[in-house]
Amino acid sequence: MKKYLVTGGAGFIGCNFVKHLFEAYDNIEVTVLDKLTYSGNKDNLKELESKNNYKFVEGDIADPAVVDRLLKDADIVVNFAAESHVDRSIMGADELTQTNLHGTYVLLNAAKKHGVDCFLQISTDEVYGSVETGSSVETDFLMPRNPYSATKAGADHLALSYFTTHGLPVKITRSSNNYGPYQYPEKLIPFFLTNALEDKPLPLYGDGLNVRDWLYVRDNCTGIDTVINKGKIGEIYNIGGGNEITNVEITRRILEILDKPESLITYVKDRPGHDKRYSLNSAKLESLGWKPEADFAASLEKTVKWYLDNRDWWDAIKQKNKEYKEFMEKYYKERQGG
Ligand code: NAD
Ligand code: TYD
Repeated sequence: MKKYLVTGGAGFIGCNFVKHLFEAYDNIEVTVLDKLTYSGNKDNLKELESKNNYKFVEGDIADPAVVDRLLKDADIVVNFAAESHVDRSIMGADELTQTNLHGTYVLLNAAKKHGVDCFLQISTDEVYGSVETGSSVETDFLMPRNPYSATKAGADHLALSYFTTHGLPVKITRSSNNYGPYQYPEKLIPFFLTNALEDKPLPLYGDGLNVRDWLYVRDNCTGIDTVINKGKIGEIYNIGGGNEITNVEITRRILEILDKPESLITYVKDRPGHDKRYSLNSAKLESLGWKPEADFAASLEKTVKWYLDNRDWWDAIKQKNKEYKEFMEKYYKERQGG
């Protein structure tokens, strides 16, 4: 019996990972700790609520009392909890630094006190900074260029310091941009595809030629699972999708799937400090037997279909959520003058 503590499990990748665990294993107990910030939704895991080996706790990873209580009974900690949006991190970084840095510290400290078999810190390709040529390997220098990626890089260093200093069995995964069901409609793919469905403009930053490497979320989940089970402690593993594509090209593909006109694309003022390209070399994880299974075109279509079939899920955010509307007002103001 393995007891997992999954923080941020009510968010996009976290909820897909928890679903993956219940599909892959019988002999597990999973506790989700989530603060239910703007991007967390307990209902993302509704189908698990009747299981007696699943528990949801609403709480903050930066709260030592709740973290201490939950760590007493955890074998494997997977820390997804984070403020995860670059544009929000540019508008203000109070909660971002509190969660991504201090929250990670509180978790590490409790894990050190109680002992765990594995502390998996979820990180990102963005910590390497903009990669004009070639692909990042795990030993590259970190050159984060926005507040979000800077806090994620800081958390990586902190986590590794708990391995070297205290012997905590830390592992780190750094994945590329994820896509799939349950992604909050502020990130490129769900934002653009839901805007297109509403016949609203798709605000593309700068020249639209920035490159991202897209990873289907369930491939990230199997990658994380592989690292937990086969990865070495104190090590970092890249998880890339192998699908590098410019923003304008992925936008065209979304429009094509939806049969919507390219005239919906609107070029707007660029994001400050906008990283030109991310690219991961995932050979280290592949040497453990993992590889991404998803076909990009088919998985993008599957993702679009999920948003078509689950309009209530994103309507509840885009039409009814006051916080989302306030964020969008700020967002559009910042993007004027492109
Ligand atoms: P998300 O914003 O959808 O989910 C974040 C979750 O964390 C939410 O459920 C939120 O309520 C919760 N949370 C936030 N602050 C918390 C706190 N203080 N205590 C407890 N819970 C808290 O984000 P996501 O896209 O699912 O990202 C998950 C992780 O993966 C993050 O660590 C992110 O940096 C990393 N990551 C994401 C991507 C991507 O493409 N989305 C790529 C690489 C790495
Ligand atoms: P995003 O989904 O925010 O992920 P990240 O910044 O973590 O890579 O953005 C993906 C790419 O899409 C990035 O190059 C910024 C760009 N982008 C736009 O052009 N317009 C938008 O409205 C958003 C949200 C992103």
